[in-house]
Amino acid sequence: MIFYFSGTGNSLYIAKKIQEKLGGDLISIKDIYKMGKFEYNPSSDEKVGIVYPVYFYTSAPIIKDFLSKIKLNNKDSVFLVANCGKTTGNANEILEKTLNKNNLKVDSKFSITMPDNYILLPTNTIKTKTEITKMLNESDKVIEDIINKIENNAVGDFNNHKGKLPGLLSPLTSFLYESSCKTKKFNIISDDCIGCSQCANICPSEAIVMKKCKPVWIKPKCFQCLACMHRCPQHCINYGDSTKNCGRYVNPRVEFNDFKM
Ligand SMILES: Cc1cc2nc3c(=O)[nH]c(=O)nc-3n(C[C@H](O)[C@H](O)[C@H](O)COP(=O)(O)O)c2cc1C
Ligand code: SF4
Ligand code: SF4
Repeated sequence: MIFYFSGTGNSLYIAKKIQEKLGGDLISIKDIYKMGKFEYNPSSDEKVGIVYPVYFYTSAPIIKDFLSKIKLNNKDSVFLVANCGKTTGNANEILEKTLNKNNLKVDSKFSITMPDNYILLPTNTIKTKTEITKMLNESDKVIEDIINKIENNAVGDFNNHKGKLPGLLSPLTSFLYESSCKTKKFNIISDDCIGCSQCANICPSEAIVMKKCKPVWIKPKCFQCLACMHRCPQHCINYGDSTKNCGRYVNPRVEFNDFKM
């Protein structure tokens, strides 16, 4: 049983690969959170894992909240897979604490780098197609290794991407994340918007509604997953004015119909 959260498909890709090998259900945290479904019955020999993207050395609050409420009958432990552009900090440890408070242990903690989708810094741009292909091919090997470890009941911290001073930086950057998740800078190139509603339908924060066939951000804050920006078919959503020319990204190996988030 694999639970995932994903803005641009990387975590979904990893989660799918693990689920294909281990069996069990593939469950979108965004979907079940909305339904308020927190109780699950994995079989006693089934592995349960959570795959999620790292945001500011931590993760989206929906993941923490979900893990604080989840009830797994027949199971007292899970594994965590932190998916990041480069560095995770203590993202896994923060979720581990939440799980421990909910009487669940973490058997193994993993990390994996995937193409970075964070384009809100003026210096960040999306990698070229060739760079993305190379990175995804390399990540396939890491996913295989993670699966092998899970199948062999490996216990421990296998995160190779914590970076420097994770214990110090994670609380600081978590604070930055909290304060930067504002929606007021989202804007659209109105003439390019075809009114397809994709952005409103996929937003995990339910922060977007369609008004007169155009998206409007109705909540002051969101999870900043960037799904709306990257997955708009017209690439017409921007954040301030620095994101116009930095490219967009969706994991090219994820079938769109599989993409439940
Ligand atoms: C708001 C935000 C913050 C991010 N912070 C980090 C970070 O602290 N460290 C990192 O290595 N990558 C960071 N990233 C990059 C994502 O973790 C990375 O691209 C991930 O693969 C996205 O997964 P997804 O496609 O499942 O959404 C951030 C991305 C976003 C949108
Ligand atoms: S996804 Fe893009 S094109 Fe579709 S409604 Fe939203 S902004 Fe417009
Ligand atoms: S508004 Fe966009 S960036 Fe914010 S949570 Fe919704 S989809 Fe993600």
